[in-house]
Amino acid sequence: MNFVGYKCGVCGQEFSPEEIRYRCDSCNGPLLVTYDYGSLAKKVTVKSLAEKPAGVWKYRELLPVSPSTEPVSLGEGATPLHEAKTLASSIGLSNLFLKDDGRNPTGTFKDRGATVGMTVAVERGMHAVGTVSHGNMGTSMAAYAARAGQTCYILAPEYMTSARVLYLSVYGAKVIQVVGGYDSMYDESLKIAKKHGVLFINSDNPFREEGYKTIAFEIVEDLGWQVPDWVVTPASSGGLASGLGKGFEEFKELGLIPRIPKLAVVQPSDAQPIVVAFEKSAETIKRVDHEFTSIVRSLGNPYPPSGNRVLKLLQELGGTAIAVPDEETIAAQRDLARIEGIFAEPAGAITLAGLRRLIKLGKLNKDEKVVLVVSGFGFRDPGDADKLVDKSVTIDIEDLESVIATS
Ligand SMILES: Cc1ncc(COP(=O)(O)O)c(C=O)c1O
Ligand SMILES: [Zn+2]
Repeated sequence: MNFVGYKCGVCGQEFSPEEIRYRCDSCNGPLLVTYDYGSLAKKVTVKSLAEKPAGVWKYRELLPVSPSTEPVSLGEGATPLHEAKTLASSIGLSNLFLKDDGRNPTGTFKDRGATVGMTVAVERGMHAVGTVSHGNMGTSMAAYAARAGQTCYILAPEYMTSARVLYLSVYGAKVIQVVGGYDSMYDESLKIAKKHGVLFINSDNPFREEGYKTIAFEIVEDLGWQVPDWVVTPASSGGLASGLGKGFEEFKELGLIPRIPKLAVVQPSDAQPIVVAFEKSAETIKRVDHEFTSIVRSLGNPYPPSGNRVLKLLQELGGTAIAVPDEETIAAQRDLARIEGIFAEPAGAITLAGLRRLIKLGKLNKDEKVVLVVSGFGFRDPGDADKLVDKSVTIDIEDLESVIATS
């Protein structure tokens, strides 16, 4: 195994790899897995990667499991990177790409983290896994736990609707609806994890991040080893943005790319703790509590556990953070579907809404190469469906020809 330890994503403190760890003992920042990049640089090359089949496990030398371990897989990763020429010209850009990560087995990028986390759980002989979830993460963990034959505990907010609970229960997960905020469930889950030997693979778990970073690897490879100027990503807990940053950092460390793109993180106006901290040039995230009525349900975290790490990344990479109101996210959902044929859930389409705002603010150059991460499929959560569709017409059969001829 190439996994040599953990490093805090905020203060940089290092920890040895033997124990399962989640957060930094000094600053409570999220831990990230580290490797011996010097020796990996000889093994992981453009040529060696070209010879392997696409998908998360293509990068297994850069994943924290031993070479002989069989992955718990449902065929995740290797999602398309579409060039969006029509959409690009409609917003005045010349180089726009969509990373369609809704094409994963349970419809979101979360599957990349679940395959790695679940494989680590099996390799380390754990008997059960768990996660704290608003929906997508739980669905993904539940599916991968079923695949591995493990017990899966999902801690969900008590107000979660029965339709959303269905997606978790269908895979046989034990769904526990808890009265209390996301952050208190998150903290409590890590205490239980330690005491009862359950691997809690929450939103920014170090092993989960390892799966997310493969989005960055795939973007670079699919662009023919070119680095985009900007990658625009949604953020809730900050785990996805953190993993993307790690992926680009690792490819640079291995000498595979010369630089790292700027990251732009997008949040809904109702829950924007990272944006608020970024705009104030703050060093740490403060809890931002609003009544959350946004349709972007997957991005409702008032106190992101990887917020401080993302803030640091944005400051180091010269990135930015932007909040958008729901109407703009709905318009982005419609445009992605109608112009490019991609139906995204609101959290997936919010990156297009964010990009439009960044262009208006003059934050990016029109000829820069931009990649939008479309993180989830619309089938998972259409959002405000009434605003996405036009009313259908009902006619008599004898009027069919004239209706088609005139509409
Ligand atoms: C579809 C979708 N996109 C983006 C995110 C944000 O990811 P993170 O919590 O890692 O910031 C989530 C989180 O649940 C999600 O479900
Ligand atoms: Zn720390």
